[in-house]
Amino acid sequence: MEVRIDVNKPGGGSYPILIQRGLLATITTRAAEFSLDRRVGVIANTTLAPLYGEALCAALPNASLITMPDGEQHKTLDTMASLFAQMVSAGLDRGSTVIALGGGVVGDTAGFAAATFMRGVRLVQVPTSLLAMVDSSVGAKVGVDLPQGKNLVGAFKQPALVLIDPDVLATLPQRERSCGLAEVIKHGLIADPGLLDDVEAGVEDAQLIRRAVQVKVNIVEEDPYEQNIRAYLNLGHTFGHAIEQVSGYAWLHGEAVGVGMIAAARLSHRLHLCDASVVDTVERAVASVGLPQSIEGLEPDALWAAMATDKKWQQGKPRFVLLKDVGVPDIVDGVPREDVITVLDHLR
Ligand SMILES: NC(=O)c1ccc[n+]([C@@H]2O[C@H](COP(=O)([O-])OP(=O)(O)OC[C@H]3O[C@@H](n4cnc5c(N)ncnc54)[C@H](O)[C@@H]3O)[C@@H](O)[C@H]2O)c1
Ligand SMILES: [Zn+2]
Repeated sequence: MEVRIDVNKPGGGSYPILIQRGLLATITTRAAEFSLDRRVGVIANTTLAPLYGEALCAALPNASLITMPDGEQHKTLDTMASLFAQMVSAGLDRGSTVIALGGGVVGDTAGFAAATFMRGVRLVQVPTSLLAMVDSSVGAKVGVDLPQGKNLVGAFKQPALVLIDPDVLATLPQRERSCGLAEVIKHGLIADPGLLDDVEAGVEDAQLIRRAVQVKVNIVEEDPYEQNIRAYLNLGHTFGHAIEQVSGYAWLHGEAVGVGMIAAARLSHRLHLCDASVVDTVERAVASVGLPQSIEGLEPDALWAAMATDKKWQQGKPRFVLLKDVGVPDIVDGVPREDVITVLDHLR
């Protein structure tokens, strides 16, 4: 069964997110419907190109494969320059479409290339990681990293269409899958408690994705430019980014966010925002998908120092997304350092 979620764009109009198993295998018959029968550049990394990129290009009448290396370290302006050169060679023009086929790294980089090539060409997101399906492909944020920090250059680029085929998750490494589930749990915790039951029950991917995508859609429709409630999506991320950084990126993003959400729940309880059952719920959900539940010896002081450089801490004022209840997030400013350190100490 195909699920269709229409996303309202800030300036009016909407675009569809289609979720259907086997969608990519039937793309030839639907190329005209998706306006993919014209000139198309399929941008994939060197892992996804042989897995799905070549077949996708072969299934479309007028598509060329454009590649970039695999890995966050390649989400750069240098990679964009290489993509632009390949786009010109492939004969893409202002009427062409870019398909971003991959995880969040390809989605962000190819999306930014589509936003700027010839002042912007049509973009179709085909997310292939669970994280990209439920998080990065929805909401129009695209961009690349600078040596000075992550996601420092970018744009809002609304896609024309998002195509999600859960069948591609068959080849996603288990560790990456767990990381995607961390974001699914996050969506449950900020807006849809029933989604947590689905995660623990292990419902099929298409259903999980539909529900998790809907949470993100509701938030970006209400706050497309991240002026208020879109910040709820940072639950667990202040702790998480610090853990990634202090571990020298030995921890994957979703792993750090998983334990970061536990820290956020414990901090919420410590500050009397919520009762202990909320902490239990978060810990159970994180454990159920096999993500780490302790910070395994990372130094609380070092984590605090890393958090203090957080872009979202305006004027250095500690800011956390906390929980008043499951499904009820709150943004809290000025959390005392001692409370954060105590929570982290207990998580070691
Ligand atoms: N734009 C946004 O709103 C937003 C939101 C969240 C995260 N992000 C960004 O997303 C990125 C992380 O995305 P990610 O977790 O998808 O990482 P990723 O793109 O690096 O993908 C993870 C790994 O899985 C591989 N992979 C992906 N799909 C596969 C498949 N179907 N089969 C086999 N291998 C597959 C990739 O090649 C890669 O090695 C970060 O750069 C982050 O900043 C952006
Ligand atoms: Zn995240």
